[in-house]
Amino acid sequence: MRIKLAPSILAADFGRLAEQVQEIERAGEADQIHVDVMDGLFVPNLSFGPMIVAAIRQATNLPLDVHLMMVDPSRYYDAFVASGANALTVHVEACPHLYRDLEEIRRRGCRAGVALNPGSSPLLLDSVLDLADIILVMSVSPGFGGQQFIPSSVEKIRRIRRMLDDAGSPADLSVDGGVTPSVAGEIVRAGATVLVAGSAVFHHPKGVEAGLRELRLTAVNDPRK
Ligand code: DX5
Ligand code: ZN
Repeated sequence: MRIKLAPSILAADFGRLAEQVQEIERAGEADQIHVDVMDGLFVPNLSFGPMIVAAIRQATNLPLDVHLMMVDPSRYYDAFVASGANALTVHVEACPHLYRDLEEIRRRGCRAGVALNPGSSPLLLDSVLDLADIILVMSVSPGFGGQQFIPSSVEKIRRIRRMLDDAGSPADLSVDGGVTPSVAGEIVRAGATVLVAGSAVFHHPKGVEAGLRELRLTAVNDPRK
C-alpha cells in the first residue's frame, strides 16, 4: 500500500497560500492537505477557521484533512463541512462525548478522525475503533510547527497498529509532528500509513517539491502490504 503524504499548511507562506497549495498539488506526491485549526484554548496558539479552509478548497482538488485542535469542536462541524473539509479529526482530550462526535462527523459525510496527544494512552481509542476512519498520533505536543519528533511515539504507533489489526480496522494511522526524512522510515515500519509534515515540506531549502520527494523516498512503501 502506498503511504499517504499530507503536507501541513501551517508551515506555508500565508501571503501566498493559494499558490503554495497549487505547488503542492502540482508536485504530484501529496495525497491530501493537512489543515491545523487551533483555538487558543485547547492549544496555546491560534490559526485558521472555516473561511481559510474554504479558500484552500478553492485552490485545490486534493482532499482536505482538517485537524481540530479545539475544545467543543462539534459547534463547528457544519461550518467546516460547508467549507469543503473531507475529514475532521478531533482530540480525545477535548471530547467527553467522543463516540457521538465521531458519529456526528460521519453523519455529515466526512471521514472521522481521532487524535491522541503524546501524554494520552492508546487505551482511550479502544471503545471508538469501529467509528474512526483515521487515528492521528501526535508525535509532538500540539500547537506549533517545527518541533522535535518525540522518539517514544514509535512504540505508540506500533501498539496502535496492533490494536487496529486485531480489530480488523482499515483506519488510516497518521503521524503528526516533527516528521522528517530521518524518522519517516521508522514511523512507516512501525505501521503508520499517513505522514503529516509541515516544516519538512514547506521549509525545504530546495522547495516543496523536493521536500515531498525526499519524504516519499524515505517512507517508500508500507512493508506490511
Ligand atoms: C502541530 C500540528 C502539526 C504541524 C506539524 O500542532 O498539528 O500538523 O503543522 O508541523 P511540523 O511537521 O513542522 O512538525
Ligand atoms: Zn496537525
